[in-house]
Amino acid sequence: SSQLEKAIEAFRKGIPVLIYDAAGRENEVDYVIHASMVTAERVYEMRTLAGGLICYAMPQPAGRLIGLRYGYEILSTIPELAPLTSKTLGYGDKPAFSLWVNSVHVKTGIRDADRATTIRELDKVLTMIVNDDVEKARSYFQENFVAPGHVPILLGRRLSDRKGHTELSLHLAILAGMTPSTVIVEMLSKGDALSIEDARRVSREKGYPLVEGSEIIDRVERLGEDL
Ligand code: 5RP
Ligand code: CA
Ligand code: ZN
Repeated sequence: SSQLEKAIEAFRKGIPVLIYDAAGRENEVDYVIHASMVTAERVYEMRTLAGGLICYAMPQPAGRLIGLRYGYEILSTIPELAPLTSKTLGYGDKPAFSLWVNSVHVKTGIRDADRATTIRELDKVLTMIVNDDVEKARSYFQENFVAPGHVPILLGRRLSDRKGHTELSLHLAILAGMTPSTVIVEMLSKGDALSIEDARRVSREKGYPLVEGSEIIDRVERLGEDL
């Protein structure tokens, strides 16, 4: 079967999938897993094997229902900081970053078990939203999280609007018939992003399927499954 089929199958089982965005974008490979499957062992693997920033992603409309906004929306309300939000990096995408949070049930927030807890708690909130229990999600979020914390939340847009790892991972989850609730982290090497060739080697050695963004985009377009 195709790489995408392999990726969907692995993703459903809680096996990490590697997603390459595109040569004309970040040109990076992210390690991706469904948020409900994250354990302390997986967080350890994310920071040792992958090495980038470990982020939780959910769709923007879901985040807005519990009061989340993009970081640049919040910062732009402070006159001294607003100028920082009107710029973007070279490749031009608006950042997906919202708030950074910790679950109240953690020690410091950074430890593997801590980040796994925060991530699984965020996944719980997303499940409440998907189940149309928005009031419950909102109060659960307010009572069980503190900000700022050690897990950045990314808010995903429609794939037709933005084609980042944030959106690619959420749509992979949708294609797998799962909730749009993912954890993504960049694969890095010494001084640089991990090359696609090295990512292919990791993929073979670990049995973590490597899929290209274009395969996810094509499938989502064909099925009309955009967020
Ligand atoms: C957060 C990032 C990474 O690039 C991550 O892959 C998510 O962002 P994007 O959707 O822009 O690819 O900026 O560490
Ligand atoms: Ca990025
Ligand atoms: Zn990225």
